[in-house]
This record gives sequence, structure tokens and C-alpha cells, in this order.
Amino acid sequence: MTEQKATNVTWHDGDITLEDRNALMGQKGATLWFTGLSGSGKSTVAVALEKALFERGCLSYRLDGDNIRLGINKNLGFSAEDRTENIRRIGEIAKLFVDSSVIALSSFISPYRADRDEVRALHAESGYPFVEVFVDCALEEAERRDPKGLYKKARAGEIKNFTGIDDPYEAPLAAEIHLRTDQMSLEEEVNVIIRYLEANNFIV
Ligand code: ADX
Repeated sequence: MTEQKATNVTWHDGDITLEDRNALMGQKGATLWFTGLSGSGKSTVAVALEKALFERGCLSYRLDGDNIRLGINKNLGFSAEDRTENIRRIGEIAKLFVDSSVIALSSFISPYRADRDEVRALHAESGYPFVEVFVDCALEEAERRDPKGLYKKARAGEIKNFTGIDDPYEAPLAAEIHLRTDQMSLEEEVNVIIRYLEANNFIV
């Protein structure tokens, strides 16, 4: 749990409630948390899901590791402490999206189970839905895809602390959704998620 530094600060409610915003938007917010190795397909699935949701009138918004690291998290690297802070901040940002009735699609390696559980707990505290999606792919396949050529560099020792090579990835133990991107098609993966969202009344 991150220490509260500022003192003399209090939460200020507005006149419009979450229920009011949901009614205006015609939908409820939720966080879909995609976790998996680099190259496992997190962003690919999120992009396809965003489109499928859009086509059925649901607004979602993608929060993506590389993009976020070029902006709000540009001061963070890949040490364990920085990855933890990266995930904590994204967790808080995702909550803001949920609170504005948007479906947040959050794609980060998020290699540490404790960090993901912390984001889950932050959501639970506020009564916000949190759906962990394990984007599971064998390391050999992620390394074969190597879309950014980073595994090659990591194997050559040009990148240190690369997840799956010389840094750990702790797979989820009980993710709500488990995709095997080395065995399923993109269409199937999107369908699995859509069916889950329907079955749990996140979308109608
Ligand atoms: S996380 O571990 O803190 O969740 P995040 O998803 O934000 O990682 O960023 C991962 C992306 O950063 C990778 O897809 C890759 O493009 C890039 N990257 C650069 N260096 C590393 C590294 N050492 N380990 C993992 N990813 C890295």
C-alpha cells in the first residue's frame, strides 16, 4: 500500500453520482486488466475488443504499456519498484475511467501477482468491477513473434531485466478469463471476452 504523503486533504463529492453518469452513458464502467508476456497479444486483443465494443455501442478506452510509458509514466523504468509504481498509477487511472462509466482496457505486462492483486483490491474498495484477463502465450511463441525485436536484444544481453528472459512473470492463479493466444484465433478471443461481459451484465 503506497503511503499517503499529503496531509489535510479530503475527498470531495459532486452532485452527480456514478448512477447518474451510467444512466447518461447508457452503460456501466469496468476495468479489464490484460496481463501477459511482451508479445503475448495483450494490445492486439484490446484493439480488437475496443472495436467490437464500439460497434455495439459501448465506449471503452485502451490504456497501453508502451503508450502510457511515453507519457504519464515516462519517469519510470523496469526495476521491480518502477514496475510496481507503473501498475499502481494505471490502476488508479483505470478507476477514474470506471467512475466515468467507461470500460477501461488496460494492457500491461504487470508481471507481479501482488501488484495486480493490489489493483483488484483498489477496485473492490470502491465497488468497481475488475476482470483479470490472462493473455497466456508460451514464451517460445512470444519470442518467435518478437514484434519489436526486444527478445533478440534481451538474449544478446542488450536489454537487462527483460520479462521472461532475466526477469520474472508471475502468471495469474485465478484470472476471470484465460486466453491462449498461441492456440486461439483473435476472433475467438474477442468472443470469449464479449460472452463474459454479457453473462455478467457488464454490457447488454
Ligand atoms: S510492466 O512490467 O511495468 O507492466 P509495461 O507493460 O508497462 O511493463 O511495458 C512493457 C513494454 O515495455 C514491453 O512491451 C516492451 O515493449 C517494453 N520494454 C522495454 N524494456 C522492457 C523490459 N526490461 N521488460 C519488459 N518490457 C520492456
